[in-house]
Amino acid sequence: MYVNPRRVRKCQFVQIFATCFVLCLMMFWGPLDESSLVGHMKSYSYRYLINSYSFVNESLSLRDNLDRVVGYQYLINHEEKCQRQDVLLLLFVKTSPENFHRRDGIRQTWGNEKYVHYYLKTNIKTLFVLGQPSNLTQRNQIQKRLQREDKMYGDLIQQDFLDTFYNLTHKLLLQFSWVNKFCPHAKFVMSADDDIFIHMPNLVAYLQNLAQIGVQNLWIGRVHRGAPPVRDKKSKYYVPYDMYPWSAYPDYTAGAAYVISSDVAAKVYAASQTLNSSLYIDDVFMGLCANKMGIVPQHHLFFSGEGKAPYHPCIYNKMMTSHGHVEDLHYLWEQATDPKVKNISSGFWGGIYCRIVNIMFLCRIFYQDTYSCSAALS
Ligand SMILES: *[C@@H]1O[C@H](CO)[C@@H](O)[C@H](O)[C@H]1NC(C)=O
Ligand SMILES: *[C@@H]1O[C@H](CO)[C@@H](O)[C@H](O)[C@H]1NC(C)=O
Ligand SMILES: *[C@@H]1O[C@H](CO)[C@@H](O)[C@H](O)[C@H]1NC(C)=O
Ligand SMILES: *[C@@H]1O[C@H](CO)[C@@H](O)[C@H](O)[C@H]1NC(C)=O
Ligand SMILES: *[C@@H]1O[C@H](CO)[C@@H](O)[C@H](O)[C@H]1NC(C)=O
Repeated sequence: MYVNPRRVRKCQFVQIFATCFVLCLMMFWGPLDESSLVGHMKSYSYRYLINSYSFVNESLSLRDNLDRVVGYQYLINHEEKCQRQDVLLLLFVKTSPENFHRRDGIRQTWGNEKYVHYYLKTNIKTLFVLGQPSNLTQRNQIQKRLQREDKMYGDLIQQDFLDTFYNLTHKLLLQFSWVNKFCPHAKFVMSADDDIFIHMPNLVAYLQNLAQIGVQNLWIGRVHRGAPPVRDKKSKYYVPYDMYPWSAYPDYTAGAAYVISSDVAAKVYAASQTLNSSLYIDDVFMGLCANKMGIVPQHHLFFSGEGKAPYHPCIYNKMMTSHGHVEDLHYLWEQATDPKVKNISSGFWGGIYCRIVNIMFLCRIFYQDTYSCSAALS
């Protein structure tokens, strides 16, 4: 067979060029030292082996129950919050002591129990979860203000650990022990950051459907599959090898907002009592607990994780959560509760119009952290 030598050289050139291009891309793609590059490669292979994290072994367990650090004490609590009533959703909002403004915004919008009771005809319970003010000079002053706030609204639960990033797993344990002790009958439990927006009418409708079919083993949110631990010491999320030796975390949902059913809450609580809680990335720790109990997270296309939803009625129509909202909460809440907004996507032409708008917003070539393109096609 005759092969044109010039053609061969051209092919080789293209191959070499492509290889160089990929290598360059890897080099300049963030601070990838050799170990993290290997970590990424390995984690990609785990990403497609669904739920096969059997390598996560007993080395993370406590040697015996005596190892468990003495639990923290409640400074503010509301044991009675859930009692003697049906609760569709127990909503924990992870907040910091000084975020008074954010809590007020949430009470007036998506966390408003009265609105849900009156207009959506079901019960949700909203609780703000926090630790102690971490700033020593202002601690007493902030604590007094918290006490006043709680007297007014009765919706804070606080324990005596310092409210810092590295204590987030304690905040997680607080939520799970609270639901286990004081609200085991809530059908669903949600954990959310205080800078997200939840489209409560959409979420409640969705959960009511699930409750009707008696769903179990539910854990939904934005799923991170096979994420590698960060081994760069300068990062906030740095995790040393002796804390977590493997190159991928079990699947978990972004801590910004996720929902579980009550049976999952009970199982995760049981697992959390047997694991070493020194891993301070709370959503990963939750993933380890769930993994131990054989619970797998499910991806929901309209949970945004860290991403932010585009502003458009066609998006609000399906939105569950969106991250990074503080000043615009009231605007979004108006959009979420205005029947006229829902109307835009109704009917045949409304459906087509919204399909096109959503594709334009979500299927962009340039990466934007928001809902995925498949959400527009769903
Ligand atoms: C757990 O896994 C680690 C790392 O893969 C391994 O070194 C260790 O021997 C395992 N421990 C047990 C108890 O299986
Ligand atoms: C604590 O609060 C004081 C007074 O507002 C402020 O000057 C100081 O910077 C704060 N410290 C920290 C660590 O945030
Ligand atoms: C977590 O809270 C405990 C109890 O208040 C405190 O001793 C510890 O320093 C805190 N840890 C961090 C990393 O802030
Ligand atoms: C938990 O793990 C850390 C390492 O990440 C270790 O230093 C600590 O001793 C362990 N605690 C218990 C109670 O096993
Ligand atoms: C929805 O639109 C239709 C037609 O434009 C209108 O008749 C109806 O009143 C609207 N519904 C609401 C709740 O605005």
